[in-house]
Amino acid sequence: MEMLTRRGFIWQSFEIYGGMAGFIDYAPLGNNLRRKIENIWRRRFVVEERAVEIDTPLIGVEEVFIASGHATSFNDIAIECKNCNRIFRADHYIKEKLGIEVEGSLNAIKEALEYYNVKCECGGDFKDPAPISLMFSTSIGPGKGRKGYLRPETAQGIFIDFRRLLSYFRDKLPFGVAQIGRAFRNEISPRQGMIRLREFNQAELEYFVHPGEKRHENFKKYAFDVVRLLDKFDVEHRITLKEAVEKGIIAHELLAYFIGKTRRFLLEIGIKDEKLRFRQHKDDERAHYATDCWDAEVLLSIGWTEIVGIADRTDYDLNKHIKHSGEDLRVFIPYENPIKVKKRKAIPKMNKIGPAFREKAKEISKKLSEIEIEKDPEFIEVKVDGEVLRISKEFFEIQEVEEEVSGEKIVPHVIEPSFGLDRITYSVLEHSFDKDTVDGEERKVLRLKRVVAPVEVAVLPLLSKEPFTTKALEILELLQSAGFYTEYDDSGSIGRRYRRYDEIGTPFCITVDHQTFEDDTVTIRDRDTTKQVRIQISQLISALKELLSSGKSIEEFGIPFR
Ligand code: ATP
Ligand code: GLY
Repeated sequence: MEMLTRRGFIWQSFEIYGGMAGFIDYAPLGNNLRRKIENIWRRRFVVEERAVEIDTPLIGVEEVFIASGHATSFNDIAIECKNCNRIFRADHYIKEKLGIEVEGSLNAIKEALEYYNVKCECGGDFKDPAPISLMFSTSIGPGKGRKGYLRPETAQGIFIDFRRLLSYFRDKLPFGVAQIGRAFRNEISPRQGMIRLREFNQAELEYFVHPGEKRHENFKKYAFDVVRLLDKFDVEHRITLKEAVEKGIIAHELLAYFIGKTRRFLLEIGIKDEKLRFRQHKDDERAHYATDCWDAEVLLSIGWTEIVGIADRTDYDLNKHIKHSGEDLRVFIPYENPIKVKKRKAIPKMNKIGPAFREKAKEISKKLSEIEIEKDPEFIEVKVDGEVLRISKEFFEIQEVEEEVSGEKIVPHVIEPSFGLDRITYSVLEHSFDKDTVDGEERKVLRLKRVVAPVEVAVLPLLSKEPFTTKALEILELLQSAGFYTEYDDSGSIGRRYRRYDEIGTPFCITVDHQTFEDDTVTIRDRDTTKQVRIQISQLISALKELLSSGKSIEEFGIPFR
């Protein structure tokens, strides 16, 4: 963390006013790194999935989160000290002090606090544990305004646009919709830097499917990948995804597909396979909306940490929004051949509805005839022009009719891979951090994958004077116009500059030296091996392009130097 601040990856927000836990600023290098990770995610989870990306407001009207359940159920259990009045998240406090994992329910926490006689750090007793909402509330508009919340996940913006999205996808399942953006949670006691923030960045894909078709045409791509799974009974497996589905460890192929895809993505950006596992949520741990959920967890200096959640959210959210908004968010699935079915229907009595309801009569009778009836009702409620009307039984007659049915309406299920970009960015940094010895001295080096390096190429004049500097700036401009992320640096000895770029993970340094002026060559230095080759300036762009997108070594592109 010291290095990340000193070198310009992240800074404490509001630093000159004393800072505030749970907020960070992305400094120049951290910002580039996160954006690069985000762009690779976009390629893998949007473009490759033939999904779309949308961007919806960070503030949501209250109704959205009442429907989704967040307004009432998005809580953590907190404990407050009677003596010093500090408040902690109970399960984290118990884990930190006793090393014991308790599930987050009120009862389990109460029991654990009593059993272990847990005291505050100051020695004081805690009050009874109580749930605290993680939602940031706000008001929209002047005066009392309308109640709103900052979104705790990007997903809801997608669910509430479902009708539009379905029509964008020509009414056909399956389809995926992604959103990348900020999410807000008023975390109780965020004390872990980039891991637990109150304002953070999510990349989420909501993949809508027919409930009976939780498969993916590309599952074969990952079916034979061996993954490390920790199931809900705490049993560890190292098996292929295919076997995990066949044995029922993972609920279905579609979840397994996203586990496989998530794993490959994480490896691509530099997470270490030996420090990555997928942990299934226990039955009492899952979010209010999920049936099966797997977290990608990485081993960090603070222990195993969730960085991605992959959940089967079923039809939970769409059903809630159907109920609360009154909108039909179902999908029509046509049958191959239409079938005949008997239905009990309310046949409107127009001679009575007409005089009683006048201009609304036509719409009422249309709505009535659409409804299928089970029992003989005393009245039927229909919504006309946003108003719910109670139509009593004198206005209709129940009859059994035979209808040709060409399909059915279903509420799709949603499989959701949800990525926390801040935790991922931090994990990539920790997994890349390394030390070795170069020329008898200890060297700190960030072995970032070339594809995510925030500075891809540094251009360095051997000496900080003419003509080296002008030539180096010329090369810098050449590389910038070819789209590389570059930096120019002429301060300090060349050795110190190489160390600086090693420490921030820059894969290649280009040096302008005496020979540059004799034969139009420069040297390229490889961060990992510290080897250098000499290359023609005219070949620099194509060589760097290939080097940055592959694992090739610089020796393939130039003549060894020295
Ligand atoms: P935790 O149990 O650690 O609080 P969670 O289970 O609440 O996390 P999810 O609700 O599954 O997390 O959120 C999806 C992803 O968003 C997580 O995998 C994580 O990467 C990220 N995330 C969640 N909360 C935070 C936070 N406070 N700060 C940074 N990232 C977060
Ligand atoms: N969308 C899943 C989550 O944020 O928890």
